[in-house]
Amino acid sequence: MTVETQTARETTRVFITGNCEGLQELCEALGRHAEIELVGRAEHVREGAGALTGGHLQAVLHATRSSALPAEEIAAIREYTQAPIVLLASGESSALLEEALDADVADVLLLPQLTENVAFAIRKASHSGRRNQSGRPQGAGRVVTVFSPKGGTGKTVTATNLSVAFAKYAGKRTLLLDLDLQFGDAAIMLGIEPEKTIQDLVTAPGELDPEKLSGYTTRHSSGLDVLPAPIRPEDAELVTEAKLARLMEVAKESYDQIVVDTSPFFHGPMLATLDQTDDLLLVCGLDVPTIKNVRLSMQTLELLSFPPDRIRIVLNRANSNVGMKRGEVEAALESKIRFEVPSDRVVPLAVNRSNPAVLSDPKSDFGRALREMSKSLLPAQAAKNGGKRRRLGRSS
Ligand SMILES: Nc1ncnc2c1ncn2[C@@H]1O[C@H](COP(=O)(O)OP(=O)(O)OP(=O)(O)O)[C@@H](O)[C@H]1O
Ligand SMILES: [Mg+2]
Repeated sequence: MTVETQTARETTRVFITGNCEGLQELCEALGRHAEIELVGRAEHVREGAGALTGGHLQAVLHATRSSALPAEEIAAIREYTQAPIVLLASGESSALLEEALDADVADVLLLPQLTENVAFAIRKASHSGRRNQSGRPQGAGRVVTVFSPKGGTGKTVTATNLSVAFAKYAGKRTLLLDLDLQFGDAAIMLGIEPEKTIQDLVTAPGELDPEKLSGYTTRHSSGLDVLPAPIRPEDAELVTEAKLARLMEVAKESYDQIVVDTSPFFHGPMLATLDQTDDLLLVCGLDVPTIKNVRLSMQTLELLSFPPDRIRIVLNRANSNVGMKRGEVEAALESKIRFEVPSDRVVPLAVNRSNPAVLSDPKSDFGRALREMSKSLLPAQAAKNGGKRRRLGRSS
């Protein structure tokens, strides 16, 4: 008896959201396409919640009538699925194309298109999505370190909200590493209760590799992984510079973005992190002592041969009326401020509710500022800003 082998191609499971001119015809054509399995359609993302969840989809087609990037809808889709998103728009929309370059969007198609082209874009997106979810390295992860020489300037607020924005709104594999080793409070600001900390990881026997790292991180509801600070301050010294250097190497294999929260000191582990840092966010406020200390930190960084083009000054509580202006800070630091973050009531409220403000109040002034910051720190944008990775010339 001969067994005939079927070589039919796999179908790709797709869900369609939104609406635009030409979508109805396209849906009908895709419904008949042999390689596409149309799971369903919902004009409003939330109506499709049931079908979007569960991780079974291989792509989401989102149609928009807007000439700008439908960021809210993309974020809404991301609440339910990590499947690649292909955007559909009708007519010319160069602004959308430009914005989509930096967004968590696999492809953009302007209708009308041949059904075959759309089917190909869907299949291509689903293939790259599979690669992303397979855990294989996608090139070196980027490291954003948040530092300030003064306590209470907003390092942890910035680090937690920024990392959540990377994970949730840009769909990046993100690790938040709490290097405020004595008094780290990133976990508490995120409302997670970790079973393991960085101390457990560095004192565990055996070589550190990506699989081992994944056993010590705690997942936040945004998709962010967190490696918290030791529970007891006296355990901080177990986290040595050498251990940290290896941890950073492994983290860069496993994650797209690594955000490091720090204490107000240049200790050994912090120096090991600086070696690997692509963007150093130096958090400053509108007060003279902080500005003085930020200036001193810049001098220390220079002595450490940290490349100045990787320093980004963040002016936190930038709108506070305290008799000092942005220009005065820039003059004192002899440097431009790269990001302004407003003082916003939603921040202390969010801190006390252990739910980051970018999630609880994404449209607040603070939420918008942090989401903007996260976008401009993503690789495509960061490449435009220059800033190639180079090892530091430190000799210790
Ligand atoms: N932009 C802001 N608007 C309103 N409140 C803010 C803002 N940034 C920070 N805060 C408040 O300031 C407090 C201190 O911020 P945060 O804990 O992030 O500082 P830190 O630099 O990490 O301090 P430490 O050095 O002690 O770790 C927070 O609890 C928060 O309520
Ligand atoms: Mg802190």
